[in-house]
Amino acid sequence: MFPTSKACSLKGQPHTRMSSVCLVVSILLFCAVELTQISKGNAALVADEISALEVLRDAFNLANWTGDPCDTVDWISCTGAKTNVEGINLRDRRLTGSIPAEFSTLVQIRELDLSLNPQLEGDLPDLTAFIILNFNASFCNLTGTIPDLRRSTNLEILHLQSNNFVNVLPQALFQHSYLTDVNLSSNPQLTGTIPSTTQATELKNFVLNDCAFTGAVPAFSANAKLEHIALQNNRLTSFPFDLQAVTALNTINVDNNAISGSLPNVPVGSSQSSAGNQVERLIFSNNFFSGGIPSSWTQLTYVQEIRINNNNLSGPLPDDLSGLRDLETLDLRNNRFNGTVPRTLAELSNLKNLWLDNNNFTGIPQVLQNKAGLNISYGNNPNILTILDPNAKSGFPVGAIVGVVVAVLGIGVGIAVLTILYRRRKKKGGDDQVSKEDMPSSAQSFSLKEIKAITQNYKTLIGKGGFGPVYYGKLPDGKEVAVKVRASDSKQGADEFLNEVRLLSRLHHRNLVSLVGYCLEAQQQILLYVYMPQGTLQDHLFRSGSTSTSNPSTSTSDNSIVSSSRETMSWKKRLDVAISAGRGLEYLHKDCKPPVIHRDVKSANILLTDKLQAKVADLGISKQAPELDSEEAQVNTGVSTVIKGTFGYLDPEYYVRRRLTTKSDVYSFGMVLLEIITGRKPQSHRFPKSSATTLTEWVRNAVNADQIETIVDPALRNQYVREGMIKVAELALMCQLPRGAQRPEMGEVVRALTQAIQMEGVYVDSSARTNDYDYFAGDEEDPNVEDPVSGHVSIPLSTASVGTSRSTESDPICPPALSTIAR
Ligand SMILES: Nc1ncnc2c1ncn2[C@@H]1O[C@H](COP(=O)(O)OP(=O)(O)O)[C@@H](O)[C@H]1O
Ligand SMILES: *[C@@H]1O[C@H](CO)[C@@H](O)[C@H](O)[C@H]1NC(C)=O
Ligand SMILES: *[C@@H]1O[C@H](CO)[C@@H](O)[C@H](O)[C@H]1NC(C)=O
Ligand SMILES: *[C@@H]1O[C@H](CO)[C@@H](O)[C@H](O)[C@H]1NC(C)=O
Ligand SMILES: *[C@@H]1O[C@H](CO)[C@@H](O)[C@H](O)[C@H]1NC(C)=O
Ligand SMILES: *[C@@H]1O[C@H](CO)[C@@H](O)[C@H](O)[C@H]1NC(C)=O
Ligand SMILES: *[C@@H]1O[C@H](CO)[C@@H](O)[C@H](O)[C@H]1NC(C)=O
Ligand SMILES: *[C@@H]1O[C@H](CO)[C@@H](O)[C@H](O)[C@H]1NC(C)=O
Ligand SMILES: *[C@@H]1O[C@H](CO)[C@@H](O)[C@H](O)[C@H]1NC(C)=O
Repeated sequence: MFPTSKACSLKGQPHTRMSSVCLVVSILLFCAVELTQISKGNAALVADEISALEVLRDAFNLANWTGDPCDTVDWISCTGAKTNVEGINLRDRRLTGSIPAEFSTLVQIRELDLSLNPQLEGDLPDLTAFIILNFNASFCNLTGTIPDLRRSTNLEILHLQSNNFVNVLPQALFQHSYLTDVNLSSNPQLTGTIPSTTQATELKNFVLNDCAFTGAVPAFSANAKLEHIALQNNRLTSFPFDLQAVTALNTINVDNNAISGSLPNVPVGSSQSSAGNQVERLIFSNNFFSGGIPSSWTQLTYVQEIRINNNNLSGPLPDDLSGLRDLETLDLRNNRFNGTVPRTLAELSNLKNLWLDNNNFTGIPQVLQNKAGLNISYGNNPNILTILDPNAKSGFPVGAIVGVVVAVLGIGVGIAVLTILYRRRKKKGGDDQVSKEDMPSSAQSFSLKEIKAITQNYKTLIGKGGFGPVYYGKLPDGKEVAVKVRASDSKQGADEFLNEVRLLSRLHHRNLVSLVGYCLEAQQQILLYVYMPQGTLQDHLFRSGSTSTSNPSTSTSDNSIVSSSRETMSWKKRLDVAISAGRGLEYLHKDCKPPVIHRDVKSANILLTDKLQAKVADLGISKQAPELDSEEAQVNTGVSTVIKGTFGYLDPEYYVRRRLTTKSDVYSFGMVLLEIITGRKPQSHRFPKSSATTLTEWVRNAVNADQIETIVDPALRNQYVREGMIKVAELALMCQLPRGAQRPEMGEVVRALTQAIQMEGVYVDSSARTNDYDYFAGDEEDPNVEDPVSGHVSIPLSTASVGTSRSTESDPICPPALSTIAR
């Protein structure tokens, strides 16, 4: 193969001078040819990497190969000289098990795709020595901590979304100057603060939603190219910086965190700047933002969506919103905005949704109400007035408007005068009761005098609640009642009280304690309920064996709390009680439109009849939820309200995020289930041989370790079917999942409990045994009662609930909507 010297001696040039040059060139050529031959002949992959690839292949059951894997294996790519592995692409290969440690040998990998292997588990291997550019391990089931990638200075893409990574992120994770695309979303156990992004000047997408990050939103002051920021569904608490430096911003979503402080300013693209780099979506809903809308927001020509609902925003809206040319959706619900809704909103031709409910707006221009194609809602703005449009094309002459206004005012004054006269007249009659027209006919009103007679001058105290003392009473016809007297320092006004009575008297179900009547007189607010002789579920779970025994109807002791000695409640009975209470709640949630949220579900609010039938009580603070079309909507919106409920039972989601939904009741009901299983109070925080600090944690540990016996109420020892018990424990834990959306509906809970009681040998279709856990046998509804004191006739309260069908669907007499009391 030595090149002939013939070519060198061409053109008859002097041989001697040429030949030495020729020799050198020839040697060089020879060497080059020889080198290519060597690399073609023997595989050049580093031996360590070959064995790492083999380990990988065998661990994941991948196909065998012959020859150089660089040439023959589709998931491996190598460097040009084929000395190192440069890329691994195992996307969607159904990999199972975890990644072998040998993987860490492949330090030259630049492209790594392990995505879409939902059964790939375990930690990521040590990647500290790697120099990755593009790392995709999304949609796997990886756990452990996200590794520090500080050697990967060229990292551009980091896609680790939808895994189970835990713990905090390494502080240097985002400090890479080529990083453009980060997606860590849906790693629900990723926590701690979000590391700084100050070096990541090329960053475009920063997606960290649905994790558990806390603390501040990063500054983003060095991230001018950032377009999409997704941080929704975390636990972030502050937004300390404006976003004006993020000039490329298109979308920011921080929905559903716990951020307080003011809304940030955003960059205002001038209309000359390149299209496409404009703010289009601002989503700050479900936080604790306060203050008003920043003035910079009014210049967002391209913004399509502004959602700032469910915050603590206040003050009037900016007057001139005519600049929001592209705005389609403006959601301001559940804040404390006031003033008039700006007329300039009517000029926005793209505006489709304008949601203003639950604020304190005082005026709304008629042009907005009449705007074609606009979906506008402004419920519960108690002081709102329509503002007639002075420029209306329909051509109301000014005189007519003045006339209308005067007429409206006149009518208003007239009504007020009449109302006052009417109230006076009632007062004169010596009777401070609200007229029958105001109240539903099924709730009977009593005078204070009658209440004194019914309770024998408040002789027997049967309980004490947040509401005030509860006394035993007997109506003239012998019907036993529980008389709840609201403490006179109660903040609640008469209107609210009557509203409550209206709601309560319209709820009819055999598993809800029936309201008998009420008394509103001389600052006293009193409610009368059907008496439940067997007290509360709580008494039965925790006070069993208590010594004092007395029956209020025969008791001679004055003002004493009565409790009777009780036997341990069997598991079957506990399940029966839970099913009944569950059905009561299911009725509130499902059959009432809009749903009614109980808000104080606990074992002390589950009362028992003589036959130990359970009924849910104390709907005093229940709240009707807004009408919601879809599950989705129900998840996203909640009734924002003042926190009420009982410590130990409070849904953390409600507590932290002020989102009240029917799932808050499901959470509390889960706590009741834990009580019946363990015989422990929800506030317990120490447990034998366990480091758990909450009842939920204690039960969860035992369920995970398959040691249900360790947590079951000792009083139930060996008197239950194990599988059924596990089922109920798992159900209770599901009811307490952190996000409402993950929890079951009450209907599903009742179904699961029914299966558990069937495992105990109670068969639903066996008529002989159904009474064991039936809900309607011996319903204590009375026929019409003539009240000799007031002369009122009380209509049976729960007529509709005296059914023969066991399904709740046959009972619904829930109001179509809770109408507010007339002012
Ligand atoms: N209808 C009733 N029948 C018998 N006892 C009742 C009735 N309602 C309430 N009680 C007793 O009064 C206590 C306080 O009731 P309640 O005011 O509902 O409590 P809270 O406000 O703490 O929920 C209950 O724990 C129970 O012992
Ligand atoms: C793969 O092939 C090599 C030889 O080509 C052989 O030694 C080895 O046993 C094979 N492995 C499997 C898992 O088939
Ligand atoms: C994910 O891993 C967990 C254990 O870490 C396991 O319980 C679960 O079944 C896995 N999911 C899938 C889809 O394999
Ligand atoms: C990462 O993987 C997921 C799932 O295969 C895919 O949707 C995504 O586009 C990938 N990212 C990149 C940058 O290729
Ligand atoms: C981020 O990941 C989620 C899945 O967890 C996906 O829905 C979303 O489209 C991804 N976003 C980007 C910008 O990659
Ligand atoms: C709402 O804002 C007011 C002041 O405007 C403040 O007093 C109150 O504490 C805030 N509430 C919450 C829950 O942040
Ligand atoms: C609106 O609320 C702010 C405080 O949030 C208050 O200072 C202002 O007076 C209110 N304006 C009107 C018209 O009620
Ligand atoms: C609503 O505004 C009125 C006056 O316009 C004021 O009296 C009332 O206190 C406000 N309500 C709330 C909840 O801010
Ligand atoms: C109108 O807005 C409500 C929310 O207030 C929404 O539920 C409904 O679907 C919207 N209707 C249309 C036609 O967009």
